[in-house]
Amino acid sequence: MSQQLTVSGLYSNKFVERFIALISNTTGLSHDGSATAVGVAAIATALFAWQRIRSSRENPAFNGIPTPKGARPIIGHVLSLGSNLPKTFRKWHKELGPVFRIKLGSKDVIVISNPALTHDLLSTNGKYTSDRPDSFALQDFNRGNNHGVVAGNPNDKVYNTLRKTVLNALGPKRLKEESSVLCNEADEFVDLVSTGENIDPLEPLMRISLNFILLTLFSTRTTSIDDPLYKQAIHIITTFMSFTGIVNAAAAVIPILRVLSPILGNDKKMSDFFTNTCKSFYDSLVEKGLDADGDNMAKLLNDELNQGKRGNYDNMFHTIHDMLVAGTDTTGVTITWAFLQISTKPEVQKKIQEEIDAFVDKHGRVPYFWERDSVPYMIAVQRECFRLRPTTEFGVPHAVGEAFEWRGTLIPKDTMIFSNMMDAHVDPEKYPNPEKFDPDRFLGLEDTMFSSANRKAENRDQFNFGWGRRVCPGSHLAETQMFNVWVRVLSRCNIMPAVDKNGNDVPETLDTVSPKSGPTVVSPSPFKIRFVPRNKN
Ligand code: HEM
Repeated sequence: MSQQLTVSGLYSNKFVERFIALISNTTGLSHDGSATAVGVAAIATALFAWQRIRSSRENPAFNGIPTPKGARPIIGHVLSLGSNLPKTFRKWHKELGPVFRIKLGSKDVIVISNPALTHDLLSTNGKYTSDRPDSFALQDFNRGNNHGVVAGNPNDKVYNTLRKTVLNALGPKRLKEESSVLCNEADEFVDLVSTGENIDPLEPLMRISLNFILLTLFSTRTTSIDDPLYKQAIHIITTFMSFTGIVNAAAAVIPILRVLSPILGNDKKMSDFFTNTCKSFYDSLVEKGLDADGDNMAKLLNDELNQGKRGNYDNMFHTIHDMLVAGTDTTGVTITWAFLQISTKPEVQKKIQEEIDAFVDKHGRVPYFWERDSVPYMIAVQRECFRLRPTTEFGVPHAVGEAFEWRGTLIPKDTMIFSNMMDAHVDPEKYPNPEKFDPDRFLGLEDTMFSSANRKAENRDQFNFGWGRRVCPGSHLAETQMFNVWVRVLSRCNIMPAVDKNGNDVPETLDTVSPKSGPTVVSPSPFKIRFVPRNKN
């Protein structure tokens, strides 16, 4: 144990972190990340030579876990990351294998791609690996011990209560009760887009994703993208993201900086934004939710945290904010990527439509989520689209809460862990011929993505909802929403490429629409497709 403490001490050098913060703030990293990083490297080399001496001592931690060349004092591998992080990581996986270690500043980061190994590290050893990094952007966003769900830590009682409440509010039983409300949203989306005109589906999909969340939380919704509620919610989501976006600007050069937001000193601004802008917004929504008829998550949270008392909802805000941020663009973006993929695959759509039409002929309506065994091919296509374009590149980082031994090596406390979603989903053992679009690989998988997410890697369909104790509690809502939208869109429309002014198709694919890496979610660059009403005769 004493050895473990010594080792973990080596890897949490607060002085070094503060040094980086100082340099970043005084030199304006957001304006010229490259130059700043080089400057940091040069000064760091001189000032921190002593740290090299410490590091050269024999260190049993990470024994056998390879590390790429190119680490520099203080900034570690930052300058070796390049502008395309998934590409760099793929190269390093090829050279070093499915698990390697890099240094980000003074932090150690394990990057892991193989699904079975990731399950072993993050699920089987979840007791040690389910914290969030102490520098995680959201954590200082709150005072006291209620960090909400995304940034809370599992040894924290409040976190466990909140997570349970969220799982309860977003579980299959509740969502079945809410199904007609949720289906109406999907119908409205189709009404809006089925014009046959060129359209970028992202914003309308974001709005209905937001509506799913608003309805679940507060029994309220937005009526259009001009609705002040929509504008304000999107303003809050994007402003929040833009705080990590200082990092984004630097991330054009050094993408990994997007997870280093606190080191870059955003926390105070973020907490002011929360107090001044978000609080009144969430206050009024909670009041609305508590006044509404029927159940919603605001009522559940208020009962759990405030014993139903009205007037002060501060301890609910982080969880509410988590839902809004974690649930809106994730689902909207996932559906958008999938529609892009099938827009050039009419034969795939035709097979799905045959399934839906057969159901409609028999029942006079499209299937509900719990009747999904009537559309097995559609479910397989959804899974294949999700596999080929993961919604997040590296999930949400985990952190080691307590040093532990993993496969014969010591993993120190505070080590960050990135699960490489991009590579996990093209693992050739798990997915033979992984680059091929082949929905048939998922045929016969009866269970939901929600239940699959809690299985061993070999029995999971895909890994987009994360790992172990932290697996996404909104996955059932996301899956239900995706189902409702897919089934309604494809029952009424063909999704087709956009056309130019001469009426020629302008097909877009995963190869032509580049991903825009955000702090967590990867959305597509703007593109257009058409939702052309079907002529069923
Ligand atoms: C396709 C849509 C979605 C994807 C791909 C997705 C993905 C993820 C991932 C990768 C994580 C991190 C898991 C880990 O740490 O290993 C996560 C966590 C989380 N997600 Fe989702 N998510 C989606 C939709 C939603 C929705 C609709 C909600 C809520 C309304 C939601 C709420 C959350 C929350 C609260 C967490 C934090 C859980 C924790 O840290 O304990 N997500 N999600």
